[in-house]
Amino acid sequence: MPLKLIRNDITKVTCDAIVNAANSTLLGGGGVDGAIHKAAGRGLLLECMKLGGCKPGQAKITGGYRLPCKYVIHTVGPKWHGGKNGEKETLRSCYRESLRLAEAHGCESVAFPLISAGVYGYPKAQAFRVAVDAITEYLVTSDLLVYLVIFDTAVYQISEKLYGDIAAYIDDCYVEQHTDAQAERNRRMYGVESMPLASAPTAVPFIPEKSNEGTLLAESITAAFQITPEIPGERQPDDLEQALQQLDESFSEMLLRKIDEKGMTDAACYKKANIDRKLFSKIRSNRLYKPSKPTALAFAVALELPLEETKDLLQKAGFALSHSSKFDIIVEYFICHGVYDIFEINEALFAFDQNLLGS
Ligand code: APR
Repeated sequence: MPLKLIRNDITKVTCDAIVNAANSTLLGGGGVDGAIHKAAGRGLLLECMKLGGCKPGQAKITGGYRLPCKYVIHTVGPKWHGGKNGEKETLRSCYRESLRLAEAHGCESVAFPLISAGVYGYPKAQAFRVAVDAITEYLVTSDLLVYLVIFDTAVYQISEKLYGDIAAYIDDCYVEQHTDAQAERNRRMYGVESMPLASAPTAVPFIPEKSNEGTLLAESITAAFQITPEIPGERQPDDLEQALQQLDESFSEMLLRKIDEKGMTDAACYKKANIDRKLFSKIRSNRLYKPSKPTALAFAVALELPLEETKDLLQKAGFALSHSSKFDIIVEYFICHGVYDIFEINEALFAFDQNLLGS
């Protein structure tokens, strides 16, 4: 996952470089600036004194001293004056220049605080969006691992409406999950068939053990696909041959087939999935590779698969969506609403204290 959202004190993050939200003197201050200087020790200040200050939007680099990082990159964010004085471009430049400097010094990982979102008064949600957009734009042509460090939950919020919609969707799904469980208990106790027909087609008929596997398997698959009514949005294989092939298809093969069908390049797909190139290479080179559930779902989102095809791809990795998992329900919410921006989904997952999509 090239861009990770984490909750932490940036002075505790172990990586190649941490970024300091400094002021133009570079001689320390409050907030994250104060915390970094305090943790790094006096050596950092002595080196900063030789730098001759820094302009807003620019970045300068020093050693990490007592911090768990090789470098500290000092950048000066814009002070907020209402948003019509070039604040957004200056803030974007802070991220871009810091990332450029990090790569120029051979860093493979960088941690950012939310620049200007404190003393400098940049509205937090906008500061967050600018940070995500600037970092992800840079990562299109870079393999850096970037942490966006959120220091306190108060800083971080998604819109009230979105939060409320997702919370309601979670409640509905939880209710459905428990209703299904009750139906299952009824069936076991009273043999009452209460499974709604709509879900029957996904069950492939049982194949008797002693059988001519090939024929029966073909008949069962034909039967399964024949009894499956056309469900809008669910793709039906054109013929039995294709159905048989897809039955044996591995996760990796299905992923690569979907990338081709969508007319995407490999890089466009794994970048959009927020998956790093090394992991994608492992999946591409090993047809039996089994990814984690967040990784499998990240690819389904990057490919903008409808829900049924998302379930197919997940199943190839040995997983299913479950209404007893908030993580699954939130991802399902976005897929059902046709929202496939992985950072928007991760912002919501982060707001609900869930793992994030990606490797
Ligand atoms: N780790 C991570 N993030 C932190 C930490 C920490 N230890 N301390 C504060 N933050 C967060 C704040 O919650 C805020 O979201 O960093 C973000 C930036 O806040 P500030 O540190 O106030 O930085 P900024 O808004 O850019 O103002 C810079 O403040 O500290 C002075 O010398 C600094 O004059 C400069 C100004």
